[in-house]
Amino acid sequence: MSETRDYYRDKVAVVTGGASGIGLALAETMLAYGAAQVVLADFNDENLRREAARLNAAYPERVLGLHCNVTQEEDVKGMIQKAAEFGGGRLDLLFNNAGAGLGGVFEAQTNDDWEKAFALNFYGALYGIRAVLTIMRAQGGGHIIDIISGIALYPMAQQTMYAATKAALNGLTLALRYELWDENIRVTSATPGTTVTAIWKGVPPPPNAQSPAQSARTILAGVAKNERLVLGDDSDLNSAKHAFDPDAAKGIDEYLLNVARKRRSGQWVV
Ligand SMILES: NC(=O)c1ccc[n+]([C@@H]2O[C@H](COP(=O)([O-])OP(=O)(O)OC[C@H]3O[C@@H](n4cnc5c(N)ncnc54)[C@H](O)[C@@H]3O)[C@@H](O)[C@H]2O)c1
Repeated sequence: MSETRDYYRDKVAVVTGGASGIGLALAETMLAYGAAQVVLADFNDENLRREAARLNAAYPERVLGLHCNVTQEEDVKGMIQKAAEFGGGRLDLLFNNAGAGLGGVFEAQTNDDWEKAFALNFYGALYGIRAVLTIMRAQGGGHIIDIISGIALYPMAQQTMYAATKAALNGLTLALRYELWDENIRVTSATPGTTVTAIWKGVPPPPNAQSPAQSARTILAGVAKNERLVLGDDSDLNSAKHAFDPDAAKGIDEYLLNVARKRRSGQWVV
């Protein structure tokens, strides 16, 4: 535990989608671990103002809320620049966490829907990575964490956009890990595990869903160990072990087909 805390002590961190859910919990937990400064970047101004003020009251002068729409590259560049200024020129950790669940029947989705899905769940992170690289190189290192989802490993019916965008982000993240390794810039993919947040709007989260604080602690522990793929709960761990195992294909097919049929009948199962 103290090794985890040590990793965040005196660090400057940015969390996109930081005004709610898992992003907010990541920010709050890093502050509790002794992070020097944490920037919440989000496009929900109401949540951003409220949460930045709340955290600043608990951790004076260590929190900044910045409006940023991650689908706009200029917005992301500007946000990263301001975050580094707030950090006295440093930016040690970037959590590309902003994202959405994006359910729906494939045939009802247009190219525009797909472009918007990739703009948020994929390009939002790509813009963040690009913007932060110059700063991390100049300071001799850093850590970029892309929040994916178990859906990248275990794709479910009526979540094609979510599965495709998060699988693409995982591919980008893991390939980049080796590209940047020798520059002391760490790159990690992380699934939060099933977590009770606003992402479940309208659908009750499964009974085994964990709290944002719990997911944040698991992610932060894995990131501190520089894990390649941090897995947020046992279900994601199981998916990672078996999702592409040819010997498990029959069982997985049966399970995913059952999910597809139940969802088609209007029952939202996971
Ligand atoms: N909750 C879960 O069960 C779960 C499981 C797997 C992965 N995830 C992933 O975790 C991440 C966080 O999700 P969450 O569950 O905390 O949901 P959430 O809805 O509570 O948080 C998402 C945050 O992202 C912000 N956001 C959305 N679009 C944005 C944009 N264009 N620019 C800037 N900010 C934007 C929202 O305002 C919100 O504050 C997402 O990437 C999600 O896909 C969540």
